Amino acid sequence: MNKGKYYITTPIYYPSGNPHIGHCYTTVACDTIARFKRLEGYDVMFLTGTDEHGVKIEQKAKEKGITPKEYVDPIVANFKKLWETMDISYDRFIRTTDEYHVKSVQKIFKKLYDKGHIYKGEYTGKYCTPCESFWTESQLDENGCCPDCHRPVVDAHEEAYFLKISAYADKIEKFLTESDYLQPKSRVNEMINNFIKPGLEDLCVSRTSFTWGIPVEFDPKHVVYVWIDALTNYISALGYENDEYNDFEKYWPADLHMTAKEIVRFHSIVWPIMLMMLDLPLPKHLYGHGWINFNGQKMSKSIGNVIDPFVLAERYGSDSVRYQILRDMPYGSDSNFSNEIMISRINTDLANSLGNLVSRTVAMADKYFGGTLPTDREPAEIDNELINMAKSLCGNVSPLIEEAQLSKALEEIFKVITRANKYIDETEPWVLGKDESRKARLATVLYNLLDTIRICSGLLYAFMPKTMPKVWEQIGAEKSATEYDTLGKFGVLPANVTVHKGEALFPRIDAEKEIDELNKLIAPQKTIREDEDLDKANIINIDQFGEVKLRSGEITACEKVKKSKKLLKLTVDDGRNGRQIVSGIANWYEPEDLIGKKIVFVANLAPAKLCGELSEGMILACDAGDDDVRVLFLDKDVPNGSTIR
Ligand code: MSP
Repeated sequence: MNKGKYYITTPIYYPSGNPHIGHCYTTVACDTIARFKRLEGYDVMFLTGTDEHGVKIEQKAKEKGITPKEYVDPIVANFKKLWETMDISYDRFIRTTDEYHVKSVQKIFKKLYDKGHIYKGEYTGKYCTPCESFWTESQLDENGCCPDCHRPVVDAHEEAYFLKISAYADKIEKFLTESDYLQPKSRVNEMINNFIKPGLEDLCVSRTSFTWGIPVEFDPKHVVYVWIDALTNYISALGYENDEYNDFEKYWPADLHMTAKEIVRFHSIVWPIMLMMLDLPLPKHLYGHGWINFNGQKMSKSIGNVIDPFVLAERYGSDSVRYQILRDMPYGSDSNFSNEIMISRINTDLANSLGNLVSRTVAMADKYFGGTLPTDREPAEIDNELINMAKSLCGNVSPLIEEAQLSKALEEIFKVITRANKYIDETEPWVLGKDESRKARLATVLYNLLDTIRICSGLLYAFMPKTMPKVWEQIGAEKSATEYDTLGKFGVLPANVTVHKGEALFPRIDAEKEIDELNKLIAPQKTIREDEDLDKANIINIDQFGEVKLRSGEITACEKVKKSKKLLKLTVDDGRNGRQIVSGIANWYEPEDLIGKKIVFVANLAPAKLCGELSEGMILACDAGDDDVRVLFLDKDVPNGSTIR
């Protein structure tokens, strides 16, 4: 039965590094809702993608000596691989570098300009003259210097286009307060008090200081501000102002945009205003969820690889990872992640509660009836509570999923699973099994358990799409017995259902051993995936390598650079006259750790001044994790100034 359309979107991700488990939350949550809506009979469009423009990407590519497109391509491929690993059933994947999207953005920009919503003005910021780069105040390093070369910056002005969002302050406030667009409601006050009430300032929507962006068609020295480019994906992916797709009429407005809380501002203020300016219908809901934190801090690359979703999925299965992140994220607030929490969820909820319920029930049907239940029945009063809970479960869970209350939905399902386990203890099938005259009662108990499992697993399919078909196989449920309309009914499995014993759905994990292994196993794998691909794109020949002169040296003195938190000034015995090298390793080394150490340095690097200090070369260090660095030390007996080749 087609219940109409349902359009759901994740944010589009920055391809600027390897994804971590925090990135998975929005996508897994949207996937669960999309799957559930399909089960309910909706024609679902589930969109995700990547947000590939902007100065940050341009710089990272420059650092690696490749084009921005060469830089993002392998990372985008890695995101796609992650979504495949996590069973993400997206219908469309948009890249903001896709030609059709570029066209849409250009046309929309022009439309807004022609309608008078965009005007030309002047952007004020900071400028690093040697690097020819504009920076905003917040991009500067901790000393207020250029984040690239750490030299002082000056005030600067740049011609730019602005979006007149200030004119929409009243309209957007009314929209946010009078509609139920932004969820949870608490975020509405946050937006109004923090951003609208203090005065909505016009938004700078073009830049001339870098080129990696979509050129403004009628003034190509400007590129479109990355957020305008990114937000447009929600309509360009349906074919708005392009010929690639033509289902804008069918799917727009979006039924649900989901994002984490820090980008709610763009989705609740800028995006609806843009749509108002374009005279387009407004999306129905925006849900701003919390962050997955690690030890109380927002997860970031610096935390390391124990939270690499590829590693987690490989060790525990993607369904366990999906379950844990959805189950532990409370509605609207943050959740905490640790490997201990993950393992405990798997052992307690998945292995003990759900896994055991299925394996015990199937094993008993097998043991007492050779797998096929007889059809005689003997109901009892004690059955009713379980049957009623199972029957009303679908009705309780559907609205929770509609509201993106996924943890609550899982809680409801697991209440029934826990009740079913208790029902086994109460009815003691192993006692009934010993008494020939109680076979009808035993069959009734096992049937009630099997049909309860059918309902629970039917609802859990959207959350754990890999495992639930295995449950259906074990409990003998045909596809038709797991369709949405059957999940609100009890007694759908045939009376003489046949079960099939199978493997444990979620094997128990020895927590202590596992944590030990994780720590040992994961550290050396850090950051490999992204770099491997980039290496292949950057082959050099032996002569090019030979141009870099590497030599050994000894650090004879070392102190912090006064104007900087990151830099250390090293005096190096290079076997010649000695030299000074400034190195950005102060976060990881104290000066006294380095004195007397033998190091490798680049001897023919052009001298540069860093925060006022002359640097004649560069010492070699390696990434030892996403936010950890180790200097390459040599053996004590290596002579200073030797060639390294
Ligand atoms: N490119 C923008 C979105 C543009 S949408 C028009 C962006 N990208 S992102 O890659 O930085 O983040 C993508 C999503 O992942 C965001 O919703 C972000 O908040 C979310 N998360 C990143 N780290 C997270 C956690 N630790 N926990 C939960 N979600 C987090 O923002």
